[in-house]
Amino acid sequence: MAPEDHEGATSLLQSFERRFLAARALPSFPWQSLEEKLKDPSGSELLLAILQKTVKHPVCVQHGPSVKYARCFLSKLIKKPSGDSVTLSESTAIVSHGTTGLVTWDAALYLAEWAIENPAAFTDRTVLELGSGAGLTGLAICKACCPRAYIFSDCHAQVLEQLRGNVRLNGFPLELHTPSDSGSPNVTVAKLDWDEVTASQLSAFQADVVIAADVLYCWEVTLSLVRVLKMLANCQRTSAPDVYVAYTVRSQDTGKMFITELDRAGIDWEEVPPHTGKLFPYEEHSAIAILKLVLTGRHAV
Ligand SMILES: C[S@@+](CC[C@H](N)C(=O)[O-])C[C@H]1O[C@@H](n2cnc3c(N)ncnc32)[C@H](O)[C@@H]1O
Repeated sequence: MAPEDHEGATSLLQSFERRFLAARALPSFPWQSLEEKLKDPSGSELLLAILQKTVKHPVCVQHGPSVKYARCFLSKLIKKPSGDSVTLSESTAIVSHGTTGLVTWDAALYLAEWAIENPAAFTDRTVLELGSGAGLTGLAICKACCPRAYIFSDCHAQVLEQLRGNVRLNGFPLELHTPSDSGSPNVTVAKLDWDEVTASQLSAFQADVVIAADVLYCWEVTLSLVRVLKMLANCQRTSAPDVYVAYTVRSQDTGKMFITELDRAGIDWEEVPPHTGKLFPYEEHSAIAILKLVLTGRHAV
């Protein structure tokens, strides 16, 4: 952020904090300036900061204004067009048409939150997502993190069809197009089956970042995924991509078998520290983790 932008955001933040703590009338808040600021790529960070300085302010938590006032404030705040709302068509069943990919899973929400808090990991980079499912994580990244290109992928025909629909629903054209001055990423949806994909197909993507959410639900799937990761490490023309894999710890084995396979493949990993901004209403009691993997281009396939 340029210094003058930073100054502007700081004074806007102060203005929201003071007015909220003094329970001033909501129309007196600088909503117009906020709307302008939310057009910046860092808009979502500003929204999170405003939440921290208002409804989550320690003073407010102890001696807050009325629930009605806080509710009206929040409803006004979330209606601001920050450019990062995502609209999805998805199934109501956890498994339908023989796949788990027609519904959004908690790890996808968690990874989207992490991305929104860490946009630099994606900005101006080519991102390949494996097992995209309904597409929430990718759409959030496309809207909030300014990637250069985003490749959604999955293996299931019905999932791919829904995914294409969701991409269009959020205003991203799927026709091949070159990145324009609009800053809109080049978005594609690819059929990519980890059991069939070849090194040359993966190489064509030349991804800088690879992500996947909730794809470690059984041993066979985990093995297939690690196979793809090894291929990705070996097929890059330049440096190997950064890889982030998010998963819900459903049993002690979930992460363990993935880590065992990573260690066996010689892929280094580290757990990403939890982010602070919770945006989505997922099950708080389910532990979710993100691993960052280090692919070095020396892994035997
Ligand atoms: C539990 S869903 C997660 C979807 C989405 N990432 C989310 O978290 O909401 C797992 C996804 O992985 C995809 N998948 C499973 N095995 C696959 C394979 N061999 N190749 C490609 N995708 C696969 C499924 O089609 C499904 O969309």
